[in-house]
Amino acid sequence: MTWSSSRGPGGSIAVEEMLTRPAQDSIHRRDTDHGSGTVAPVASDLRVGTRMAGYDIKSVAGRGGMGVVYRAEHVHLGRTVALKVLLPGFADSGDFRERFLRESRTAAAINHPNIITVYDAGEADGLLYIAMQYVEGTDLATLLRGAGELEPPEAVFLLEQVASALDAAHKHGVVHRDVKPENILMAGNHCYLTDFGAGKRISSERSLTAHGQFVGTIDYMAPEQIEGGAIDGRADVYALGCVLYHAFAGRPPFEKDSEVSVIYAHLHEPVRPLSSLQPELPARLDPVLARALAKRPGDRYATCCELIAAVEAATSEGAPHTTEDSVEPAAAPATKVLVVGAAPVAKAIVRATLPPDRFEIFDAPHGAAALELGRQQRPALVLLDASTSGPSAVEVCSGLRADPATASTKIVGMATRESRDDLRALSAAGADDCLVTPFSSLQVLYKVRDLLGPALVSD
Ligand SMILES: Nc1ncnc2c1ncn2[C@@H]1O[C@H](COP(=O)(O)OP(=O)(O)OP(=O)(O)O)[C@@H](O)[C@H]1O
Ligand SMILES: [Mg+2]
Repeated sequence: MTWSSSRGPGGSIAVEEMLTRPAQDSIHRRDTDHGSGTVAPVASDLRVGTRMAGYDIKSVAGRGGMGVVYRAEHVHLGRTVALKVLLPGFADSGDFRERFLRESRTAAAINHPNIITVYDAGEADGLLYIAMQYVEGTDLATLLRGAGELEPPEAVFLLEQVASALDAAHKHGVVHRDVKPENILMAGNHCYLTDFGAGKRISSERSLTAHGQFVGTIDYMAPEQIEGGAIDGRADVYALGCVLYHAFAGRPPFEKDSEVSVIYAHLHEPVRPLSSLQPELPARLDPVLARALAKRPGDRYATCCELIAAVEAATSEGAPHTTEDSVEPAAAPATKVLVVGAAPVAKAIVRATLPPDRFEIFDAPHGAAALELGRQQRPALVLLDASTSGPSAVEVCSGLRADPATASTKIVGMATRESRDDLRALSAAGADDCLVTPFSSLQVLYKVRDLLGPALVSD
């Protein structure tokens, strides 16, 4: 369910107008298969084979409500890009042009492994365009259409990447405002959040909503955004909650006959508990989604990673460690694990993954605490965030290796894809293995199983 393809400065629909017009008049479903990722070549697209803004346009990659996305090649650099060319109406509005260019600049400034890289944006031939990293793959909307719903570990693995991207954007003062499965591009299991074009700087939110217009998809849209009120990152928490709901239920949280009913439901109706739709899902997930989809921003999770950690904790009970048969004899001492300097979500995942009857988990917020706890507790396993400081992760690693109490402790470095050098340094300092963030509970399980033996975690 999406906005009309005529929305935007040339055709966006004010909320009041929407609520007073019959649904069939106000919204028209898009008839293009823009979300499939396998859009058939469009012979009638005259831009294919031409050059625009220094890019040779090769083919149509997809279509959306704001324009067409092409696969194109930079004339001089030879780099393949996704070139999104907006519909002509968008360039007519001075306000929109300024906002589009400013927000493209902001999106380009956010460097995050799960945010699509923006190379260039501007105006050419009277049209606004944005050139960005081309993702060879699919998008979450296509995946959900094919799979129906996702298994909880898969949903968590994919959407924690998006959560991490959103929290990073919020730290830059950017609210995405259009979080939806179509805007989550996927190369294999790696997710890229795209389309910050509808995002607004938090500080300028009020002035930009002065026209009573908004863009986005109503299936995932927060109540305060629908009402045109001031918004912050918690509007994206709501939208991510809706995407999670869709991933678990196989459909968005409010599925109604008309868009007006969907809007009404976002504003006033409680969401139907997931466990009533999918009985095999744990009931513990219901309050988590209810909180993510709270009508008032203040009642939601403060960050996207907090939401994902809660989902992870609520769903991890079904992970392969929980059956009665596999429980160690009661007398067996708990295996000690030390988690050093990890991000809250990483800690939450480790805690949610390792069964409390067999593992005792210690947290060390900084390097000094890690060395002290290592000496005292003699953990079997240390999960060491590469960005740990005071002292640094490398110093902690060497220190643990040098101490007889922890000389044979298994050490796993944790770093992002971008900081592979950190992992190399940790490996040189004696780390046994690594986890690349964002990681899932299954990856933790398999790593622990590899390093400490299958008895602790197998079923
Ligand atoms: N960076 C990219 N790399 C590869 N394909 C892309 C890229 N960006 C978009 N596409 C393709 O183009 C399609 C249309 O994207 P677009 O952002 O225009 O529309 P949308 O997100 O579905 O709707 P909206 O206009 O509301 O954002 C996507 O579904 C995808 O198939
Ligand atoms: Mg999009």
